[in-house]
Amino acid sequence: MLAIPNPRSILTTCLLLLTLGSQTRADDADPFKPEKPIMLRQSGGFTIGGKIIQAPFNPNMTLSCDHGYVEYFHPWRPRKTSIVMWHSSSTQTFQNRWDGGEGFKDKFLRRDYPVYLWDGPRVGRANWACNVTYYVPDYRDQGNFAAWNFGPSFKNWWPGVQFPTENEYAWQQATSSRYVEYDSEASVHLETNAAAIAADSGKLGKSIVYLGNSASGLRAQMTAVKSNSTNIKGIVCYEGYGYVFPDTAGIRPGAGNNAFGPIIVPEEDWKKLTKIPIQFLWGDNRDESFTFLNQSRQAAALINKHGGNAEVILLGKDKGLKGTTHIAFADMHNEKVADLLEDFLRKNKLSRYERDE
Ligand SMILES: *[C@@H]1O[C@H](CO)[C@@H](O)[C@H](O)[C@H]1NC(C)=O
Ligand SMILES: *[C@@H]1O[C@H](CO)[C@@H](O)[C@H](O)[C@H]1NC(C)=O
Ligand SMILES: *[C@@H]1O[C@H](CO)[C@@H](O)[C@H](O)[C@H]1NC(C)=O
Ligand SMILES: *[C@@H]1O[C@H](CO)[C@@H](O)[C@H](O)[C@H]1NC(C)=O
Repeated sequence: MLAIPNPRSILTTCLLLLTLGSQTRADDADPFKPEKPIMLRQSGGFTIGGKIIQAPFNPNMTLSCDHGYVEYFHPWRPRKTSIVMWHSSSTQTFQNRWDGGEGFKDKFLRRDYPVYLWDGPRVGRANWACNVTYYVPDYRDQGNFAAWNFGPSFKNWWPGVQFPTENEYAWQQATSSRYVEYDSEASVHLETNAAAIAADSGKLGKSIVYLGNSASGLRAQMTAVKSNSTNIKGIVCYEGYGYVFPDTAGIRPGAGNNAFGPIIVPEEDWKKLTKIPIQFLWGDNRDESFTFLNQSRQAAALINKHGGNAEVILLGKDKGLKGTTHIAFADMHNEKVADLLEDFLRKNKLSRYERDE
């Protein structure tokens, strides 16, 4: 039997839908619902590097381990240069802005650059380790706040900081989407051995720009030093924690397990850093006495003294991007940060399309 709906309930339903509809529009305002699609030719992933070890109790049993993992996205009509995004401790920082808006991954796909998300050996989706690994919970939420330069102390935001400070959910997302980072010089070598193999393989393209952030800035530099091809065409580090120096500069390696450099390498290898354009970028509210800012200035000066092309940029003071945090590419003004990266690519002739050749 056909049910005849009560007109009053139809009206109520319509009103409800209207209310929900308008609410959705308000919440989903740009950039959550971009107007244009992203056109991909394909996407996928693979492991690369690593080794195969034998079981001590039976050499017929092996483990393939300590490889890196790459997820790739190829635009429909690609430019020649790939952007390899090397997070410090979560690809998430490249996937979305702090408030869930568009991250660098989609921004550079829209700009027709092939994008690669890289997890180094043992990290993230490459956690199939040859060694015993460990995770010790150490209550670092409050420490993250200051480390990421959201403010001088927990929930004490810098004025004008580029984070949605009223959005508790955004803070919860930022502090929870993390992987174990394995900070030690041994780990830097493990990760960059695989990354250099990946860079030289051609599977990331023949023209690669590494984006590094924090601890991965050091790793991007080491990868370029270890690579034997000319595939790496540039390095851009947002608040790099750790620098690579030649053994001729009189700089001492970092103490202890040397998690954040300096790492000292033979001058011959280091000179690879003088062959490519390099940018070391800093967020706002960083004093010149900050160890890593100081080191980035020393590293850039040495590179330039040897005929290279490295620059240190303070995104706040030099570019007017006030309130930029440790992770500029996830900040609320990340579109402007992306424009600066595109300027760098254009200036260094890395913005050409494949078919222009
Ligand atoms: C390993 O394989 C070889 C060749 O099949 C075999 O002769 C040997 O017994 C195996 N060893 C073990 C410990 O299973
Ligand atoms: C892996 O384990 C071996 C043996 O214990 C050790 O010598 C090596 O330093 C470890 N490697 C890393 C990267 O932790
Ligand atoms: C680069 O060449 C050196 C010297 O032959 C070699 O030891 C190293 O493993 C090579 N690096 C890569 C990433 O293949
Ligand atoms: C940077 O480091 C150098 C060498 O350690 C030191 O001489 C210089 O004073 C430092 N600069 C600042 C601004 O702290």
